[in-house]
Amino acid sequence: MFALILTKTSAIMKKIKLVASLGLILACLSLNQMVAQKIQKLSVLANKPLAEVQPAMWGIFFEDINFAADGGIYAELVKNRSFEFTRPLMGWTELKQGDASGSILIINQGEENPNNPRFARVTSNTEKGVYGLTNEGFRGIGVSKGKQLDFSVFARQTGEGLIRLKIELINSAGDKIGEASLIHITEKWQKYSISFVCTGTDAKAKLNVILEGKGTVDLDMISLFPHDTWKGRANGLRTDLVQMLADLKPGFIRFPGGCIVEGFELATRYQWKKTIGKPEDRKLIINRWNTEFADKSTPDYFQSYGLGFFEYFLLCEDIGAEPLPILSCGMACQFNSAEVVPLNQLDPYIQDALDLIEFANGPADSKWGKIRSDMGHSLPFNMKLLGIGNEQWDVQYVDRYKAFEKVLKEKYPAVKLISSVGPSPDGKQFEYLSGEMKKMNADFVDEHYYKEPAWFLKNASRYDQYDRKGPKIFAGEYAAHSKADKAPESRNNWESALAEAAFMTGLERNSDMVQMASYAPLFGNVESWQWRPDLIWFDNLRVAGSPNYYVQKLFSNNKGTNVVPILKNGLILAGADSLYASAVIDKKTNQVLIKLVNASSKQVSLEIAIEGSPVEKKPITREVLSASNPTVFNSLDKPGEIVPVITTFNSNGNKIKTTVGPCSVTLLKVPSKKL
Ligand code: AHR
Repeated sequence: MFALILTKTSAIMKKIKLVASLGLILACLSLNQMVAQKIQKLSVLANKPLAEVQPAMWGIFFEDINFAADGGIYAELVKNRSFEFTRPLMGWTELKQGDASGSILIINQGEENPNNPRFARVTSNTEKGVYGLTNEGFRGIGVSKGKQLDFSVFARQTGEGLIRLKIELINSAGDKIGEASLIHITEKWQKYSISFVCTGTDAKAKLNVILEGKGTVDLDMISLFPHDTWKGRANGLRTDLVQMLADLKPGFIRFPGGCIVEGFELATRYQWKKTIGKPEDRKLIINRWNTEFADKSTPDYFQSYGLGFFEYFLLCEDIGAEPLPILSCGMACQFNSAEVVPLNQLDPYIQDALDLIEFANGPADSKWGKIRSDMGHSLPFNMKLLGIGNEQWDVQYVDRYKAFEKVLKEKYPAVKLISSVGPSPDGKQFEYLSGEMKKMNADFVDEHYYKEPAWFLKNASRYDQYDRKGPKIFAGEYAAHSKADKAPESRNNWESALAEAAFMTGLERNSDMVQMASYAPLFGNVESWQWRPDLIWFDNLRVAGSPNYYVQKLFSNNKGTNVVPILKNGLILAGADSLYASAVIDKKTNQVLIKLVNASSKQVSLEIAIEGSPVEKKPITREVLSASNPTVFNSLDKPGEIVPVITTFNSNGNKIKTTVGPCSVTLLKVPSKKL
């Protein structure tokens, strides 16, 4: 059946390409020119399942880019809490009011505390006035009225005097909206904690750490967290941002990136072992996106690793997603230094991968399993997927991947490996790597597509004729890039989301081989992003899903259990008349789930025959995403410009009559008898 559909597909390819290349903008610009059309007849062969949809099909790509981790999902509100930024007082200013006088000295203990060598020695010379430090947060500190904040600090008192530490939260108008006192700092390093409730809401508050009295204290790891983190975890994550992820019901989370895995050079690659254990022992490094784009320089972008591999695994577990970590394969980013480690020195990199599997899956009495257990998770995380390298290419990658594969497959044959086919979905390197990975019978190849919307429309049929004998596909990074506009979120416009939806019908239709897919990047902080478009935009207090987010959600929340054919005159719908479609059945809920993407400027009338499965006489749910024009986007001020509109209508037996609006994405949920 599927073979027949495939051969017929090629006959309409030319037409599809023509339609796509006209461009979505042109197609959508004249929405007011809606013309009633003759009814198009489609059929869904609900009793002819083609492939199982993998539970992990629609997932999340997480990378610490655009302040996604520090200053983003990681709920820490203090920037440069341990004075380890290149400029140790970045984010901090001296606080001196009234007759106060004092000094701040940065001390580097070197080997005494190699992972966190610096601390601040703060001396107040007088009983009068106010002396201390102010932290500006990440473009301010976001706090809400009535919410508890948890402050902590590592401190000791040195020399004479009796110092009390006072904490103040000051809003952007200069008013105090929270305070707390820590009495009696002793002469031994200790962690002190105190909580207080915030009396005002502000996205740009600042934190004062004040010395009361005369004397000297040493301060390190000055930290402020909202008490309400995701699942109430200490060292936790921002609830509103995690909720957005949970709402996607993602099948997997790929972490920690992206290029960040590779590093600008090998020394700055992501090393997971440096991101576990106590937060104060995790050695901070510069974030590679700090300097990547000259016009988007963010000198205060570092990785504290407060959100490290243990927290990533917890996040996956919390929201029911498979963990999909990616590790360095011994090659730094090939767009940057392109350093490679010699093959005869690759063992430590491979050992990192072996140890990671033990950390995630090993018993609590194994070396790395014990570290996990000591961190509070005695049960394994049951990791089944592991990526080797990110956007790597050339023979150097093949050589290194082979070395990893040999060792990993021998020890952990059940862990599926994800390999690179370079940064582009076509071209010489892509062809070469795809061929090599096929020869090796690799588990998954990771294809990336950052292209214009027309490419996505054209490639909705990309996988219909793909070689079924090759590795499975992980559509690991994709986003339709529309033209730039002023607001950062504006590239996440409806034109881009609609094109991605069309493309995703092709992924879903081919989910026998495309078994995982994720939009990239995930997060964009409106005030400190480096790369756009991004799926979710946020500031210190607010979050907005892009139209692309709602497209992802529509697919992910309705992935079903098996793909079934949806045809027009016996052909798949992959762009003819600018219509794209895919369908799945859900054997658990007995529903036929139909996704329809109309990229034309005209409303389309449809009669959809559900064949082989009686439709229940229950209401059919229709979920629609659409916009008045292709340049519309969601912003923090207007987050609801493009959100799903859900209605129901009565079924009239197995022939469903419906219309799909111009430039729209429609989901039909059809209740069926037992599937
Ligand atoms: O998603 C942003 C970047 O795009 C990723 O870090 C990289 O893998 C790709 O080039």
